This record gives sequence, C-alpha cells and structure tokens, in this order.
Amino acid sequence: MTASTDALRQAIVEELAAAQEPHQVEEVRVKYLGQKDGAVTLLIRGTDYSALSRDDRRAVGNDLSAIKTFAEEAVRDARRRVETYAARQRRRGIVDLTLPGERVNVGSIHPVNTIQMLLEDTFRSLGFIVEQGYEVETEYYNFDALNVPRDHPARDMQDTFWLDNGLLLRTHTSATQVRAMCKHGTPLRAIFPGRCFRYEATDASHETSFYQCEGLVIDRGVTVANLLAVMQALLVQVFERDVSVRLRPGYFPFVEPGFELDLTCLICDGSGCRVCKQSGWVELMPCGMVHPRVLQAGGVDPDTHSGFAFGLGMTRLAMMKYGIPDIRLFDSGDWRFYQQFPATV
Ligand code: FA5
Repeated sequence: MTASTDALRQAIVEELAAAQEPHQVEEVRVKYLGQKDGAVTLLIRGTDYSALSRDDRRAVGNDLSAIKTFAEEAVRDARRRVETYAARQRRRGIVDLTLPGERVNVGSIHPVNTIQMLLEDTFRSLGFIVEQGYEVETEYYNFDALNVPRDHPARDMQDTFWLDNGLLLRTHTSATQVRAMCKHGTPLRAIFPGRCFRYEATDASHETSFYQCEGLVIDRGVTVANLLAVMQALLVQVFERDVSVRLRPGYFPFVEPGFELDLTCLICDGSGCRVCKQSGWVELMPCGMVHPRVLQAGGVDPDTHSGFAFGLGMTRLAMMKYGIPDIRLFDSGDWRFYQQFPATV
C-alpha cells in the first residue's frame, strides 16, 4: 500500500462514516469514484507504468486495483447502512421532517357513487330503506310482474340483453319493486339504487350501462301530492339551489297515472345543447302512481293501499350536478376525468 492510497482509504472511511443520508453517500462516491474527476479514478488514470520496473508495475497495479475495490465496497456498505437506518426509523415512526414528502396518489370517488351516497343519506333521513336488487333478473320481475304483457310494445322500448339461460340484465331498477313488496309488505318506503343495462345506441346522454335509483312508497292513502313533495325534497337536497322542473304525462305500464319529470338542462341553462338534444330539458325522472296490478303482484290490496314510484336516472343526475357534457366519460377509464372529483364526499 502506498502513502497516497493509504491516505485515500482513510479519507473514504471517515467521510462515509459521517454520511447519514443516501445523497451524502452518493456525494462521497462521486468524489472518489466519479468517472470524470473522482480521486481514485484520477489516480488510476494518471499512473505512468512506463517509468516503473516490472516488479513495481505489478505492485502498483495491485495497489490501485485494491483501492478501487475497497472504495466500491465501502460505498455499498455505507449505502446499505443509511437505507436500513432510514427504514428502521420509518418503522419506528420517527420521521425526518426536513426530507421532501412522498407523493401519495389518492383515488377519487366516482361521481355516480357520490350521487348514490347523497341519495341514500337523503332517503334514509326520510325513513326509506335501501335495497340493491339484482343486476341479473328474471323476465318475471323485470316485465311480467310490472304489468308489461309479453306481446306489449313496451318491452321493445327497453332493448334487453338476454342471457343464454333465459335470464336478462335488468333494464331498469323497477325490477326490484315487486321483490321488495313481497319481502317487506306494507307500509313500505324504499329506494333501489343500481346498475341497469340496455342494448341501445350510445350518444352524449345514452349508455348501454347506466345507473338508476328507483323509489317506492306504499301505504294507505298515498297520493300524487306525496309524490311531488318527495321529488321536491330530493332535488333541493341534490342541487342545493332552485332548479326548474316540469311535469308532463308519461306512459309506463306499471303506473297509472304516469308522469315524466324533466329538469331544465344545467349544461346549457336551457338554451339547447347536444345533451338535451337542443330542447333545453333533460328527462330525469319518470314517476307515477303504482298500477293496481303491480300492487297485486306484490301481495298488496289495491282497495286499501296505494303508492307511488319513480325511476331516477342517477347517471344523468350526476351529469347535471357536475356539468358533465357526455355520459360516455363515466366509464371511459380516463384518469384525467376521474381526478377532477374529490377523494371524499
Ligand atoms: C324507466 O326505466 C322506468 N322504470 C322508470 C319508472 C319507474 C317509471 C317508476 C315509473 C315509475 P326510462 O326508460 O325512461 O324509465 O328510464 C328512466 C331514466 O333512466 C331516464 O329518465 C334516464 O334518466 C335514465 N336512462 C334511461 N335510459 C338511459 C340510457 N341509455 N343511458 C343513461 N340513462 C338512461
């Protein structure tokens, strides 16, 4: 070992022992082993073997090779030491507040989920129960029990995904109405939020899979006035401001009378856009008084009881609340869309 390599060893040992952080170890590495002007590198590069005897050449070569290996191993050990120390400190909960923070990627809540949670809270506070129903349904609950005769054109209104085993993907959350009546009896106040499926062409306001929230109230003496009061409470809660709605007659075989509740288009403020198909209104919530035959299918006597039902388009409601101009964004999987929504409700 020559005097110069001995001094280098000494310096490397001392400087690595003083290093507490990975970046300090790296600084020592660059200082001694850096390609451009590391001290060990320069020493190796600057040695003139031609001026040495054969024996000295071998000795100097071995010495330089040894100092390089020594420096590399010392750096590796020091790196391991500081990393282990940092990991142990982290495990103990000791945090170096001077270090830059680690970026944590937090997901955000899907806007339809936010709407669903809001609706569930609102309706629970009004005494409603929440049921999910089934996405895969029988023809009976999706159509027959809802007074939709087998040859009725209403079945074509909602193009259906049929499964090979004769079951279907529910076309609307109304499919849970009769199930809930049979299960819970009367009086009944329930909502059924969930996913629905329709085999139809997509555009800015239509998807093949979307979310509805069905509402069903059955008791003695329920009237259209009760229906309107609940609709109003719901919209105030969701939009936190006055919004214009209109009620027009609507036909559904499972209600009589039936209505369509339209909301002024909040994307264009009623002036007309591709979401509202230039009409200024968005069809949001069909509703009506439960048809006596549907009550009967649920084991409820229509002579003593009446009820109302509504089928709120939750995905469309989310579009209106957040000003989303195209329904296809919801299931697009595009992180740029989702990250605009908060991580908490
Ligand atoms: C029905 O589905 C009835 N079951 C609603 C109902 C319930 C009527 C209870 C009476 C009593 P409709 O097909 O209009 O109705 O759909 C209801 C809502 O779901 C629509 O207003 C709309 O907001 C939403 N919707 C329907 N089809 C789609 C679609 N393809 N994409 C997105 N939203 C849709």
